[in-house]
Amino acid sequence: MTVAGLVALPRHPDYRRPQPFAGPDHPMRVLTRAVAFGEPWTDDDATRVARTFDELAPSWSTDHVDPLKAAPLLDAIDRGGVPTDGRWVELGSGTGAGCRALDGRVREHVSLDLSFRMLAHAPDRSLRVQADSSQLPLTDDCADVVLMINMILFPREVDRILRPHGHVVWVNTLGDQTPIHLPPDDVATALPGAWSGVTAKAGTGFWTVLRRTADA
Ligand SMILES: C[S@@+](CC[C@H](N)C(=O)[O-])C[C@H]1O[C@@H](n2cnc3c(N)ncnc32)[C@H](O)[C@@H]1O
Repeated sequence: MTVAGLVALPRHPDYRRPQPFAGPDHPMRVLTRAVAFGEPWTDDDATRVARTFDELAPSWSTDHVDPLKAAPLLDAIDRGGVPTDGRWVELGSGTGAGCRALDGRVREHVSLDLSFRMLAHAPDRSLRVQADSSQLPLTDDCADVVLMINMILFPREVDRILRPHGHVVWVNTLGDQTPIHLPPDDVATALPGAWSGVTAKAGTGFWTVLRRTADA
């Protein structure tokens, strides 16, 4: 729960401030904060969110996957000190924005999403798993990196599947205008234990790379 130190790097030279899109009252923003800080994720939440993204799936890649969206993730790899030679588990992978941006840069990439239709539109170069991140069908300590791009944070499950020296990569591609948004400090605070890391603005958003501190 403690933020030992989160270092803000200079913004990427191509950073652009996002247009106003989703403010603090956006229902997904409210849900994201509630779940991250301990409110239960209900069957109704899962049904509603899965239905929403099933409906958005056919147009998601054309409307929501573009170079600006990839920029924070690529910058996180360049400057965030996150290793690419292990197993990356991406939660809420949608139609594969993360997988497309990484484009083979990581050794193993597992894509997981609640919405079957979002996954169906994702590239098949990554193993795709349909599951709810509130209860992951994955063993403890199985991931070197847990990647979330505009995804709801389920702190206990992220902590459970991440290896002791693993990294969390958190990306909001529209910064604080992202509907599913938490600022970096809140991500580190919501995760069990003590975390430190780096963060920077890139594209129209930001990335954060977190690691457990040595005494966690
Ligand atoms: C805003 S979209 C982002 C998709 C993708 N990461 C991107 O940036 O294009 C959020 C994604 O998270 C998924 N999602 C939401 N709640 C989830 C849960 N409990 N378990 C797994 N996936 C979930 C949705 O189905 C959706 O695909």
